[in-house]
Amino acid sequence: MKILVTGANGQVGACFQRLAPLYPDWRFIFAGSGDLDITEKQAVDFFLAANPGVAWVINCAAYTAVDKAESEPEKARNINVTGAKILAEACAKRGILLVHFSSDYVYHTQQNTPFKEHDPVKPKGVYARTKLAGERAATRAYPEGTMVIRTSWVYASVGQNFVKTMLRLGKERSELRVVADQIGTPTYAPDLALAVLKIIEKVAAGTLDRVSISGVWNYSNEGVASWYDFAQAIFDLSNVDCHVVPIETQDYPTPAQRPPFSVLNKTKIKNFFGIEIPHWRESLEKCLVALNE
Ligand SMILES: NC(=O)c1ccc[n+]([C@@H]2O[C@H](COP(=O)([O-])OP(=O)(O)OC[C@H]3O[C@@H](n4cnc5c(N)ncnc54)[C@H](OP(=O)(O)O)[C@@H]3O)[C@@H](O)[C@H]2O)c1
Repeated sequence: MKILVTGANGQVGACFQRLAPLYPDWRFIFAGSGDLDITEKQAVDFFLAANPGVAWVINCAAYTAVDKAESEPEKARNINVTGAKILAEACAKRGILLVHFSSDYVYHTQQNTPFKEHDPVKPKGVYARTKLAGERAATRAYPEGTMVIRTSWVYASVGQNFVKTMLRLGKERSELRVVADQIGTPTYAPDLALAVLKIIEKVAAGTLDRVSISGVWNYSNEGVASWYDFAQAIFDLSNVDCHVVPIETQDYPTPAQRPPFSVLNKTKIKNFFGIEIPHWRESLEKCLVALNE
């Protein structure tokens, strides 16, 4: 089976590259932004024509600079909406199943219980709005073959993320102020990537109907944390001697607003696909080990 991973050099894309050897019978094609620009319709068509037989596209390509997006709305929209639509149309034409990632930031409401997939969405900010528009554009273009996975606070030992930033700053400073009133769940990118590969495995084995994968699915690690909790755990588990001071969002203004609460309810994906999800602390430990290897 042939699987194309777009945006293959980002955090999540790179995790698929690392996990690929676990599936020696499958052929992965890893396309970074330099190999395939998902906003170029002709390039996408040409790429799929040059690589016949692709059964799945896993779209890891995205504009993810949440604050910068406020000053680059056209660029964010082009990648997150137009790119997603172009990929979905290309997949629909060829009967290729599409996995597309979206964000917990679409759930920016007053709700304070874990979000289910059908709870109301209200994205604020360019990044969040383009992520919602992108998942809708892809689903509209290819309703029967697009799996949208909303995830949150993604980190890995590769790429730029909160864990690496905290480790760097924690070694430079004796004290750090970290927001304590935004609540969500960190997601270790290798856990997310492995869950996707297990889902693909189930569909490939014929135990699941192709169409049943379509729609929106939430995935993050288990547990709940604030950014303050997350920073504290990073320092505790890596023996970094840095005092973490809890602050409020209003004391750390950013160009884009983040939801105060965006914990995801994962019951749907766990029950339907029989997936077990590790707690975020357990996965953080794995990441810290990987960073020291
Ligand atoms: N990171 C998070 O905390 C988070 C949270 C929730 C959801 N998500 C979602 O999860 C998915 C993966 O995120 P990530 O953290 O892996 O992002 P990432 O590390 O920023 O990677 C995104 C990748 O997309 C590539 N890309 C950008 N424009 C492209 C284009 N036009 N064509 C092809 N590739 C392009 C980038 O390549 P260049 O670097 O060369 O531009 C980069 O390698 C995204 O859909 C994101 O919205 C992420």
